[in-house]
Amino acid sequence: MTKKMTPLLEGVRRYIEDNLAPFQTPGHKQGRWVSKDLKDLMGEAPFLMDLSEPHGIDLPGALAQAQDLARASSGAKASFFLWNGTTGGILASFLAACPGKRVLLSRCAHRSVFAALALAGAEPIYLLPQTLPKWEIFLPPSIEEYKDKFKAADALFLTHPSYWGLARNWQELFSLAHSQDKLVIVDQAHGPHFRLCGKLPPDAIAMGADLVVESTHKVSTALTQASMLHLGTERVAPPLVSEALSMVQSTSPSFLLLCSLEAAVAQDAKAGPLWERTVQLAAGARACLQALGWPVLHKEELPRGIVQDPTRLVVHVRGKGQSGIVASQFLKERVGIVPEMADQHNVVLLLTPADDEKTIERLVAGFALLAKEGKEAGAIPQPPFPKAVLSPKLAICGTRQLLPLQKAVGEVAGAMVVPYPPGIPLLAPGDAIEKEQVEYLTWIRKQGWQVDGLTCEGEILVYRGG
Ligand SMILES: Cc1ncc(COP(=O)(O)O)c(C=O)c1O
Repeated sequence: MTKKMTPLLEGVRRYIEDNLAPFQTPGHKQGRWVSKDLKDLMGEAPFLMDLSEPHGIDLPGALAQAQDLARASSGAKASFFLWNGTTGGILASFLAACPGKRVLLSRCAHRSVFAALALAGAEPIYLLPQTLPKWEIFLPPSIEEYKDKFKAADALFLTHPSYWGLARNWQELFSLAHSQDKLVIVDQAHGPHFRLCGKLPPDAIAMGADLVVESTHKVSTALTQASMLHLGTERVAPPLVSEALSMVQSTSPSFLLLCSLEAAVAQDAKAGPLWERTVQLAAGARACLQALGWPVLHKEELPRGIVQDPTRLVVHVRGKGQSGIVASQFLKERVGIVPEMADQHNVVLLLTPADDEKTIERLVAGFALLAKEGKEAGAIPQPPFPKAVLSPKLAICGTRQLLPLQKAVGEVAGAMVVPYPPGIPLLAPGDAIEKEQVEYLTWIRKQGWQVDGLTCEGEILVYRGG
């Protein structure tokens, strides 16, 4: 039974047992020639498993078998393992499903989506997200907002859930899209566990999405960079997706990543009760944090129709005059608690079946200390997203020049500028750069927030014409 669930792992196990003499890549040859420090830390096994084109393993066959198990357990029509993260899956989805087409999407999307728009030459039609007062977090657009701009689009792209764990039931929207022959792509990076437990938001495949990309490595048990792309319907032919994936992924997939994906599929098949327990654990943690005076985002505070992943705790620290970013730093340095992410107002914590009463106790103790010793810190409001004046493709294909950020007001962005996390570009390629964004970026950089897309000297790539 175990053997059938993990064809890749079984192949690797046999290869190791055969004690072969490889005269092929990788050069470390199963760890025979490798840094001692690295091996001392990692142990033997990762090197033994790190094979490239191993004799005796039918990689296409074993991969097809493992992917078919993923397909069966996710309820998809076809599933693909990804070794370049959800980023690779999003790039491939756009290349396969909507090259050169008009795509309706919330402007509040991960940076990989803007890269996908640029690479696939797709034309974005942006919906500007509302924010939830007090918490200052982006909300998923309403179904009506999508419907209003629906006509002009060939395809829809949605992020489900958001980094803050917010989601909706999109079934009606997806049916409407299909009735008008529009494809639906969903970034379910933070929701690979949704299908495993009835207490979590609805799963995108079950709602009828055509292409669903998810980070198995983020919330489930695969190794970092290991994700999956599922075809929820038969509207996109699998060979189109395989071809697109071959354009954006390495020709040398890591067996460590592949084996971790098939193991995650097997593990997830038994994980329903574990997620039920995690939901309960999160409810307990929420109650303890609230008792300490920390507001934790709760479904009653959300507009009608928006649901929340209960295993993701969004703790509001601004009410005590603190900044999420500074609080997150405090938690790491003082008590060794490492949040998933923070913004100016909140700290976001991710719970999985790996957590238990002990980890929650430590978390609560950390927040108790934060309540006593955390320092107040200022905030500035996030500026509105700027106006897009060029498509991402035109902006990156033009002549581009580096300018100091302060001198870039009035120019058009030639690249993304992305506060990280959550990885949502404040400036996308083709956006008009305004004073508000420059002031905001300057301020958050001074606070120590990571901003990708600027040089160390604070320069930005601007568009200088075709
Ligand atoms: C919403 C969202 N989509 C996509 C990605 C990209 O995922 P990956 O890191 O697996 O490439 C991320 C990463 O943080 C994300 O938060």
